Amino acid sequence: MLTVSFIGLGNRGGIYGKYFFTDGRARIVSACDKCKENANRFHLEFGVDKAELFYDEETFFEKKRSDVLVIATPDREHYRHAKTALRLGYDLLMEKPVAPTAEETADIIDTAKKLGRNVVVCHNLRYTPFYQGIKRIVEDGLLGEVLSVEQSENVSYFHYLTSFVRGNWRKEDLSSAIILQKCCHDLDIIYWLIGKKCEKIASFGGLHFYCEDSAPKGSAHYCVDCDLKNCPYNAVDIYTKYHEMMNVPYGFDYSDENIKRYLSERSHHYGDCVFHSDNDVCDRQIVGMRFSGGVTASLLMQGFAATITDRTTSVYGSKGYLTGKFNDGKIKVNLFGQQPYEVDYNAEIRDGASHNGGDAKLVSDYITFRLGQGRPMGISLAEDSHYSHKLAFSAEQSRLAGGKSLTVE
Ligand SMILES: NC(=O)c1ccc[n+]([C@@H]2O[C@H](COP(=O)([O-])OP(=O)(O)OC[C@H]3O[C@@H](n4cnc5c(N)ncnc54)[C@H](O)[C@@H]3O)[C@@H](O)[C@H]2O)c1
Repeated sequence: MLTVSFIGLGNRGGIYGKYFFTDGRARIVSACDKCKENANRFHLEFGVDKAELFYDEETFFEKKRSDVLVIATPDREHYRHAKTALRLGYDLLMEKPVAPTAEETADIIDTAKKLGRNVVVCHNLRYTPFYQGIKRIVEDGLLGEVLSVEQSENVSYFHYLTSFVRGNWRKEDLSSAIILQKCCHDLDIIYWLIGKKCEKIASFGGLHFYCEDSAPKGSAHYCVDCDLKNCPYNAVDIYTKYHEMMNVPYGFDYSDENIKRYLSERSHHYGDCVFHSDNDVCDRQIVGMRFSGGVTASLLMQGFAATITDRTTSVYGSKGYLTGKFNDGKIKVNLFGQQPYEVDYNAEIRDGASHNGGDAKLVSDYITFRLGQGRPMGISLAEDSHYSHKLAFSAEQSRLAGGKSLTVE
């Protein structure tokens, strides 16, 4: 039986908690969160003893409490938590990004290596039937030699607004650059599928729409005070509909009345007009890459998709290409001179509620791996993630240098 502790018991911690709790091969023995409501969830839902719930990291880190620590705290806490935990002797399952800066990321990976600990990063897309299916097709050589990959992350406007204009990921100094924070998954998939090193990278992008310059005449700072009619970005309209997207403590009352009251508070930014908030992360960004052997890849991230956030992936090879939409769970394979056909991965999804089965599979594969029962194909040790994180750091460096083409370190 694998023993597991958690630090950071919010949205991600809660999702992983559920899957560790239900797997049957692991036991959650202790948990820490500075928010008491979120911590208490681990007692109520996952049976963690009250004496093993901690509300401050100092007490929690007084000693090692289990085989593994899951780190699901905000990005800016990862470095401190990972370093402390590695020194205590934990193996880590940690949320991406490993850390917000290249230096901290490298330091965590070096520390793990020196101490002989393993660190697995939560690149949940790698565990989905959709991306595992694509990876198998590529590895089986069906497409011939891989020549080019095209990836887009189309973030729905209400997801983008909630997390990146009004939420905890709206400013780089609160979290990290969006190309790392949101797109390290996409860069990881590109790198995983191509399996070669990137030689050159360039990126463009910025925050050009969800900012003051685009504010409609007469718009108020807070939506509850605004007289503009039919505004698609109105906080009250969005959060009475998509309330579960807001980052609020466990047990929050999601009734329309309470949401309206909450949005009139000034202690958070969910009630902000999207044109008057203090956000600074890009609302669009593109990355162009050349990998060894001349393989090219592109990534588009944009925060203007109308419906649910979706990714599209195309892989072009010397014998044909495949293309698919992540949320459809299907890909179309077009081999030269043959009839195109479709592969549907939906039946393989075990629990689609979270990342189309990626989170459930990530936890069960991680347990398999950590118990020494095999190495499932998705497992991405920190060294693998380090490379895809480097792509993100280099892309951001290029963007800030006006799109200069850079060599990836
Ligand atoms: N893999 C993915 O697809 C994915 C998706 C979303 C977020 N994330 C990442 O997961 C991490 C957590 O995101 P989330 O959405 O769960 O955020 P969250 O805000 O819901 O949860 C974070 C929790 O950490 C707690 N916390 C903050 N500082 C703490 C400290 N010093 N000690 C103990 N607890 C502390 C907060 O109270 C909160 O409960 C972030 O790094 C985020 O970027 C990953």
